Amino acid sequence: MCSIIAYKGYRDAAPLIVRGLSMMEYRGYDSVGLATVHNSRLVVRKGVGNVGHVNARLNLDGMYGSVGIGHTRWATHGVVNDINAHPHVSCDGRVAVVHNGIVENHVELRSMLTTRGHIFRSETDSEVIAHLLEYLPTPVVYDGNSISKALLDLTSMLSGSYSFVALVHDGTLVGARNHEPLIIGLGNPRKGRDGMLFADECFIASDVLAFIGHTDKAVFLADGEAFIVREAQKGLSIEVYDRHGKVAKDVTQVAWEFADIDKGRFAHYTIKEIHEQRDTISRAFSIEGSRVHEVVRTLLASRRIVVTGSGSSYHAALMAKHLLSRICMVGCDVVVASEFLYSMDTHYVDDDSNCDHGVGPVLLAVSQSGETADVLDAVRMARSKGFRILSLVNSPLSTLARESDLFLSINAGPEIGVAATKSFTAQVALLYRICMEMAKAMGRSTMEIDIGNPSMHVGSILEGEEHIASTAERIKDASSVYIIAKGIHHVIALEGALKLKELAYVHAEAIHAGELKHGPLALIDGKSVVIALNPMDQTYRDMLTSVHEVKSRGAYIIGISDAESSLYDTILAIPGVEPLLYPLYEVIPLQLLAYHMALKRDCNPDYPRNLAKSVTVK
Ligand code: M6R
Repeated sequence: MCSIIAYKGYRDAAPLIVRGLSMMEYRGYDSVGLATVHNSRLVVRKGVGNVGHVNARLNLDGMYGSVGIGHTRWATHGVVNDINAHPHVSCDGRVAVVHNGIVENHVELRSMLTTRGHIFRSETDSEVIAHLLEYLPTPVVYDGNSISKALLDLTSMLSGSYSFVALVHDGTLVGARNHEPLIIGLGNPRKGRDGMLFADECFIASDVLAFIGHTDKAVFLADGEAFIVREAQKGLSIEVYDRHGKVAKDVTQVAWEFADIDKGRFAHYTIKEIHEQRDTISRAFSIEGSRVHEVVRTLLASRRIVVTGSGSSYHAALMAKHLLSRICMVGCDVVVASEFLYSMDTHYVDDDSNCDHGVGPVLLAVSQSGETADVLDAVRMARSKGFRILSLVNSPLSTLARESDLFLSINAGPEIGVAATKSFTAQVALLYRICMEMAKAMGRSTMEIDIGNPSMHVGSILEGEEHIASTAERIKDASSVYIIAKGIHHVIALEGALKLKELAYVHAEAIHAGELKHGPLALIDGKSVVIALNPMDQTYRDMLTSVHEVKSRGAYIIGISDAESSLYDTILAIPGVEPLLYPLYEVIPLQLLAYHMALKRDCNPDYPRNLAKSVTVK
């Protein structure tokens, strides 16, 4: 999605803004722009490309001024071109705006403003905000004392989800959020006697990653809140308002996990994050006990469990279904978040607060970012139907965490690569942990599992990276890759196919091996690449039959397995792990294969085209 960052303080704003934008580039990167105030005038530079390219072309970080706003765009309304890039400026040139989200009533607002003489330059929904700030009865640009009223008037006119920051030519920053993230980072924050908040410098951003290198003190705006940052006698004053008036905000200490945001010795975040699974899987397995127990108690007491998520997190939700059934013999439904609305009839449960179980229905929402719009919509809908909300998130400060009755952090640290890698395995590891604790609480001691040494298991798979890279070279020109599997391994096939699609732009399809003969076999010929997920478990023998079927049609076979077979043209080996935990590790060779195929096919694995890390629009 789009990213916003603003800075006001005692340093040059532009380099800080450019650096912040690159840290958030995972959110979207069609075009980039900055506005600063220099000599009481707004200066805007913007253009198509990623942060590095636009900066090199337009010298963004050479812009003057100690206050500014910046934006990376992920196009929703209007094509990708220089004019549609943010910031957008009011007709009188006195206010510039950056926006994330969608102004749903922009057509009506645009026509109202046009009939009043406003001239629009872009095709974006965002530009209406700049013109509204100029048009309002107490316009922000002319009347400093009435800014709060003007802002609240403005937000009452906008419908949809948005966060925006406007830079006024006098150096004031104003903005608001509604269902899109906006966080204010504060350098040397302090409170005045009347509770008023002051700081030496302020960052306002869509993600704490944008400013964590400078401060770990932050104010989290809630939906419906607006802010003003301006000069005061004691430094910068930070005022927050909602429709009832001024809001006293607490300053939060942002968690240490966010500090680890460098690529280190790796060429890309994606490969760094794949390697980090040595630690992240163990960390997820050993999340603090009391919160896990509370989740377990809630799940055991619930009348019905529904699990949801999007993309890789949806695949983790599918893993939850297999694990709950296998380890706990508990059933659940899984609904992909974007389909929740359309399947609510099936999952609707009458108010059953009187039921023996006491907790009623529970929705377990899985999300790395905790900001995915489809997931948040599902959660809000489920809550309105009486569901209790549990969630697994990577960001404990996210909207999903805050809207849940109870959340667990998967503790994977920042994931910058657009493709989910370590967050997926951390979600799955935590789901194993929950299911094992549930089985224990149910007296199913036979299901106690030794998790062994995850770091060692990941390490031995990573040792095969060179071989995986040469396998990627061998198949790099494939137009399709089929991943066949059975049982729980089919979920890993889905996740592997998603990695190949998004990282290497190759068509990849997960197929239930037994379904080959019901149709997909017609696709297989001498040019086909088939990956067989073939662990030595109850699926092994039947899988071999399917491998024979594709082999005899001439396909090139890559076996991912803990057992050799002469049927494979090559094998990506999984070292001996506890069979129940095997699927957790089975995904790693697929992640590596997708990463190396991306490199061989000249794709940027960190920033796949058309995608964004946090999908905060519907
Ligand atoms: O932040 P979330 O886990 O809610 O994100 C869900 C999906 O957008 C995400 O998993 C996406 O599919 C990734 N690009 C997959 O690699």
